[in-house]
Amino acid sequence: MDFALNEELTLVRDMARSFAEAELLPRATRHDRQGTLDREVFEKLRELGLWGLTIPEEYGGAGLGNLALAVVLEEVNRACASTGVTLSVHNSLIGAPLRKFGSEAQRREWLPRLSSGEVIGAYCLTEPNAGSDAGALRTSARIDGDDFVVNGTKVWVTNGGWAGLFLVYVRTEPGTSRAKGISALLVPGDSPGIQVGKPEKKCGIRGSSTTEVEFSNVRVPRSNLLGSLNDGFRIAMDTLDGGRIGIASQAVGIGRACLEAAIKYSKEREQFGRPIGEFQAIQWKLADMATRLDAARLLVMKAAWMRDRGERSSQAAAEAKLFASQTANFCADESLQIHGGAGYTDHFHVERLFRDARITEIYEGASDIQRIVIARAITAR
Ligand code: CAA
Repeated sequence: MDFALNEELTLVRDMARSFAEAELLPRATRHDRQGTLDREVFEKLRELGLWGLTIPEEYGGAGLGNLALAVVLEEVNRACASTGVTLSVHNSLIGAPLRKFGSEAQRREWLPRLSSGEVIGAYCLTEPNAGSDAGALRTSARIDGDDFVVNGTKVWVTNGGWAGLFLVYVRTEPGTSRAKGISALLVPGDSPGIQVGKPEKKCGIRGSSTTEVEFSNVRVPRSNLLGSLNDGFRIAMDTLDGGRIGIASQAVGIGRACLEAAIKYSKEREQFGRPIGEFQAIQWKLADMATRLDAARLLVMKAAWMRDRGERSSQAAAEAKLFASQTANFCADESLQIHGGAGYTDHFHVERLFRDARITEIYEGASDIQRIVIARAITAR
C-alpha cells in the first residue's frame, strides 16, 4: 500500500502497526476467550489519540481523514478484530455524523469526550424487525414539551455495553413508514429508562460488546436532535457509507493476518520431505490471497479518498465492503486449509481469524445489501 501513502499516512500506519503488534496481538486470544476487551486497551487507544482520529483538532481529535482511519483500522484489525470494530464504530458511526450533522453546541458537548475516549459511542439503527430493511424501524420519539420521549428496542448494538452516548434512529412522524419520518437523536448513556441487555455470545469478534438496548420513556431534550427533524434516514445511510469503509478495512486486516499466518506455517510445516510452501498447490493459494487482498485494499483506499474529498461514496464504499469481506473469508478459509487439522484447533490463531472474518459479510449491511446499493447506483446513471 506504500505507493498510495504520503509521509503523514506512513507515520500513522507505522504508529498503528507498532501499537497493534505490541499491545493488541498479545491480547487478541484473551479478548476472544474472556468475551471483552482488557480495560488497559481503552487507555492505550486514548494515549495514541485513536478514539478521536477523525475528529477535528479544535475538539480534541487528531483531525485526520478517512484514509488515515482506513490505514489504522487495517493494522488494528490485523491484530485484534474485537478492538477493531469497537474503534471503527466509535469513529465512523458516531464521531463522524456528529462532526458532519451536529450543531456547534452538540459538537462542543460531545466531540472532546469522544476524542479522549471518556465517552464511547454506539449506533442504534437495527431493531428485531428492521435489519436489512432499516427503513422499517419502529422505535418512536414523541415530542412532549421541550423533550423527546423515546420508546423501543434496538438490537445488535456494537459498543452497547460500554457506551456513554447512543445515536438512536427513531420515528418522529407517527403514521409514516419506510425512510420518511425518521430522525436521529443523541441519547446520553446515563439517561433514565435505558436498559442495556446482556452481551451476545458471538461466533467471532467476541471481545467486542454487542447488546440489545431498550428505551422506555427515555426523555432527551429537543436540542439533542441531530440534523433536521425527519431527516434521520439520510443521516443513517450517509453515516453507513463511511462505516462500511471501516468494516472493509477490518476485512483487509483480518485477511492479511490470515495470509501472514499461512506463509509462516507453509515454511515451517514439512510433508513429503519438504516444507509444504514448496508445493505449487500451496503457492497458488498464497498468490490468490495476496492478489485479492491488494485489490481489496485499493477499493478501500478509493472509497476513503472519495469520502475525504467530500464526494458521495455510497457505491465505492459498498464495493469495498463487498469485495473486502469476501476476500477476508476467502483468505480465512484458505489459511485454515493450509494449516490442516492444526488450524481447526486453538493451537493456531487462524481459527479465531476464521470466526472473526465471518461477520464482515454481515454487519453494516450484508453483502446482498451492498449489491443493492451498487446496482442502484450504476443503473440510476
Ligand atoms: N446517502 C444519503 N441519502 C441516502 C443514501 C445515502 N447513502 N442512501 C439512501 N439515501 C436516501 C435516498 O436518496 C432516499 O431519499 P428520498 O426519499 O428523498 O429520495 C431515502 O434515503 C431512502 O432511500 P432508499 O429508497 O434507497 O431506501 P430503502 O428503504 O430502499 O433502503 C437500503 C435502502 C440500502 C436497503 C438500506 O435500508 C440499507 O442500507 N439497509 C442495510 C442497513 C444496515 O446497513 N444496517 C447496519 C446496521 S449498523 C451496524 O451493523 C453497525 C455495527 O454495529 C457494527
